[in-house]
Amino acid sequence: MSDSPVVPHHIAIVMDGNGRWAKRRFIPRLAGHKQGVDSLKRCVRACVERGIGVLTVFAFSSENWNRPADEVSGLMELLALALGREVPQLKKDGVRLHFVGSREGLSSKVREGLDAAEAVTAHNTRLILNVCFNYGGRWDIAHAAAQLASRGEAITEASLHAAMGMSHVPDPDLIIRTGGEMRISNFLLWQAAYSELFFSECLWPDFDEAALDEALQAYRSRERRFGKTSEQIAPVHSQSMPG
Ligand code: IPE
Ligand code: IPE
Ligand code: MG
Repeated sequence: MSDSPVVPHHIAIVMDGNGRWAKRRFIPRLAGHKQGVDSLKRCVRACVERGIGVLTVFAFSSENWNRPADEVSGLMELLALALGREVPQLKKDGVRLHFVGSREGLSSKVREGLDAAEAVTAHNTRLILNVCFNYGGRWDIAHAAAQLASRGEAITEASLHAAMGMSHVPDPDLIIRTGGEMRISNFLLWQAAYSELFFSECLWPDFDEAALDEALQAYRSRERRFGKTSEQIAPVHSQSMPG
């Protein structure tokens, strides 16, 4: 018995495991990241088909700058390349792109690519795709608080939410992390307050429709209580239980 809607409105994914996927094949890590882009394309299609309204993915964390310089520059190149190649199709498919994260430290080429992709898809309504790039949950909270402080505004839950990078969408119903690690790694710290969590052993490049459906199936079996009791959530069900 579950009170969750059948399909989550907003899914967020920590796309982890590209490096291990490549290592197992004795190929460079960057080849794993390239395969990760294809996996994301497949995932976007699958979300559209399943009627999901918002997909948020973690693509590059504030801490990922600490990786070897060639991997960081390779990831930046890959983003610019993927934008150039994929945005026309995303536009056709009704996907609206948002980039969430700091633009500081990004090259002007990458920044222009992000701006153009957002502008070109701004009128789409089928699926909102938030790409968290150069993003950290702590950065988001601190940045929002600094903005409010600089404007002399009161810091409340509502004002902080409004100043954060994900204010245009409701909080994620389901957060999936691939790659088998059971941690958040600075993703959506504020917005994850009542998200259902699902950890998949699948490495991100292998994450296909069946793996997504497994997470959706698990979500359907959850009871989201938001601090209430089970009886408050499903009164008819609990009254009909024996005893
Ligand atoms: C996730 O895959 C992608 C990024 C963090 C950019 P990883 O590169 O972290 O893959 P693993 O965890 O090393 O396998
Ligand atoms: C989280 O993965 C960030 C992204 C998927 C972009 P990491 O691979 O960076 O996380 P840790 O270092 O294993 O916690
Ligand atoms: Mg990783």
